Amino acid sequence: MSERKFSVLPEHLGIIMDGNGRWAKLRGLPRTEGHKQGSETFRKIGEYAGNLGIRHITFYAFSTENWNRPETEVSAIMTLFDSFLTEAIDRLDENIEKGIRLHFLGDKSGISQELKELMDFVEDRTKHCNKMHLNLAINYGGRQEIIQAAKTLAIKARNGTIDPADINDEMFAQHLYTAGQPDPDLIIRPSGELRLSNFLTYQSAYSEFWFSDVLWPDFSEQDLDLALSDFEKRHRRFGGI
Ligand code: FPP
Repeated sequence: MSERKFSVLPEHLGIIMDGNGRWAKLRGLPRTEGHKQGSETFRKIGEYAGNLGIRHITFYAFSTENWNRPETEVSAIMTLFDSFLTEAIDRLDENIEKGIRLHFLGDKSGISQELKELMDFVEDRTKHCNKMHLNLAINYGGRQEIIQAAKTLAIKARNGTIDPADINDEMFAQHLYTAGQPDPDLIIRPSGELRLSNFLTYQSAYSEFWFSDVLWPDFSEQDLDLALSDFEKRHRRFGGI
């Protein structure tokens, strides 16, 4: 049920979940504990955003560069991802009833076969849902996404399926992981870092940004409200006046 707290909501909200490691360090805990807490925040904020009526939300969970982290950390994040998928499957009927469609943005070929099968399963079972699109960017890189779209288009042009002269913004966007979804209107990055880190590189051309010093595990519904009330006041011009 929408709480209608805001006069304007982003149609698509992107969130870079950052600061898990520092959150753990501040408490003398292993970094993996930060990710564990971060995954709880992900559930909480995802649910809250859905209740507010945000129709598309993308969480950045794991980048193509995150494989460079120690093996223990990578495997802890994959275990959290596994738990999320298992929970999504356990609650499939409930999620379908709520109209939640799950999408995974990124290169699935780099993910273990077991996880890939679960990802394909939940994507397939929720593909008719249209109330809320919950995107999880995993093994995702904005440049990699653009390159794979360019390669697919080049192959189609070579095969004669498309005329290169017809390639435009719209056609290009249809070859991205976010095909069929609007560009993010607002991107939130907590933890004091002021960069995009290869997140939705193509789609963020006209996104608004909101930064906060709060570390992701501590990010609350009130923090999201602050971002949304700031967004409400932004005057978006899309290159016009
Ligand atoms: C960035 O914080 C966070 C990540 C690279 C992982 C994000 C993962 C989760 C929130 C949990 C996974 C959830 C699912 C559902 C897969 P950082 O580790 O770079 O933090 P730091 O900058 O403080 O070190």
